Amino acid sequence: MTEPSKVNEKKDKTELERRTFIKALAASSAALLFGGLSFESYINPEARKTALLQGYPVAVLVDSSGKPITVDKIPTATQNSSSYPIMMFNYPLQDEPNILVKLKGPSQPIPGAVALPTGEYLTAFSGICQHLGCVVPLLDYHPHDSIPFEAQLIGYNATNWPTYGLLFCKCHGSQYDPTKGPHNLYNSGPAPSPANHSLPQVLLSVDSSGYVYATGLNPVNAVIRTHLWQPGGEEYGSGVEAENLSGGTLLPTYDGPALSPSVQVTGTIYKSIVISSANGPWPQQ
Ligand code: FES
Repeated sequence: MTEPSKVNEKKDKTELERRTFIKALAASSAALLFGGLSFESYINPEARKTALLQGYPVAVLVDSSGKPITVDKIPTATQNSSSYPIMMFNYPLQDEPNILVKLKGPSQPIPGAVALPTGEYLTAFSGICQHLGCVVPLLDYHPHDSIPFEAQLIGYNATNWPTYGLLFCKCHGSQYDPTKGPHNLYNSGPAPSPANHSLPQVLLSVDSSGYVYATGLNPVNAVIRTHLWQPGGEEYGSGVEAENLSGGTLLPTYDGPALSPSVQVTGTIYKSIVISSANGPWPQQ
């Protein structure tokens, strides 16, 4: 059994990591949220209907130095994890944050996730809450042994918090189950989720070097919360692709070390920097 002092240490460390991340994010949040969204796109919603690309970009995930991260360096959450760093990257456009999650041990495959030879699943979800648009870190992944205080207030505890935890939005309590892939809206808990839709799921792939790419959004549920001109509903299909590529700023072009020759991409490869809440260097070198 874990000693109480160790538990407190873990909680303190988690809290410190989150505070550090929130401080770092505060400096860039205005740019993150508004830098890519021109004012004109709100004044003139028609501007949001002009797609920036014809299809989803292929973007390699890189660290702050521009070097691709490898999948083995991404932390893994298990049924017993008491903390998990926030790993956020923008996709498909510069102003659209997503949350990277790697899980080990779910009894069922995670739809839309990359199944790794290690028995782990790598996936990512929009970091923009589908209820009213709160973003990471207010929306964040909390593994099994890390129930946020706000979730406890609405009745969650160690017995009813799901085995692999939830992505939980602290604004109004929306809950999303990462093990369910695109159908992740979770409302069977003590308080129904106020969100109407699942979080959009980013489709990822991993090359022979272990580099990770974002290649699109799962068309089962592809609406991103900040894209408002489609009618409501859980299922949208691929017709929303143009919508999700409008009204923002393109990702920067990848200019790092050569990628695996097995990566067959015609056209530009973009990059997206993964920002992490982990204390100390991440990914570990
Ligand atoms: S904005 Fe996330 S629950 Fe309301």
